[in-house]
Amino acid sequence: MNEVLRTIMERRSVRRYKADPVGREDIETVLQAALYAPTGGSAEPWHFTVITDGRVIGDFDARARAAMAESGIERIEAMGKAPHYRVFFDAPVVILVCGEKVLRRTGRHLSALADCSAAIQNMLLAAVSIGLGGCWIGLVRYLFEREPAFMAPDGYEPLFALTLGHPDGIPEERAKRREGTVAWLE
Ligand SMILES: Cc1cc2nc3c(=O)[nH]c(=O)nc-3n(C[C@H](O)[C@H](O)[C@H](O)COP(=O)(O)O)c2cc1C
Repeated sequence: MNEVLRTIMERRSVRRYKADPVGREDIETVLQAALYAPTGGSAEPWHFTVITDGRVIGDFDARARAAMAESGIERIEAMGKAPHYRVFFDAPVVILVCGEKVLRRTGRHLSALADCSAAIQNMLLAAVSIGLGGCWIGLVRYLFEREPAFMAPDGYEPLFALTLGHPDGIPEERAKRREGTVAWLE
């Protein structure tokens, strides 16, 4: 198996991190990978906010949990209220991913959500390739529903976050469902 395939297949969502900080060069490598994701119409409609200040991460986490706790969805509320649950797992790095609301060139919103998602996957794979781990964080949406401009630059909206850090153990592989996911028309 080649390195790219191995990296894709070895990636896991990492939810336990060592306290060691992540070097700036490694973060830059991960961000560089994001920029190489495909984007509809070459729009590159994204913005990344890198957060390494533990206090800012802690505040973001607390706000996200508070929003979850008032989401009106029983399962999410229970998670938000659980005393030891942390949205970002005390990771040393959180990257907030924002999508452009209206594309500058065409004036129309094409596919910021898809483009930013492609960038996140690139970042997660780049992280694995340099010995780091990460997790895509969608649960921040409950906070963004309450605060639609949360930490976003003008003209952008917050979409997702991801955590990065040195994994404290690699999670087991989840069984991947193949049945019913592929149709061949030959
Ligand atoms: C759009 C999206 C949102 C996600 N949000 C969260 C999240 O908020 N918290 C979390 O722990 N994992 C989150 N995940 C990670 C998934 O739970 C994980 O990818 C899935 O369980 C498969 O496990 P694997 O990534 O280790 O293969 C998210 C993944 C995606 C693609």
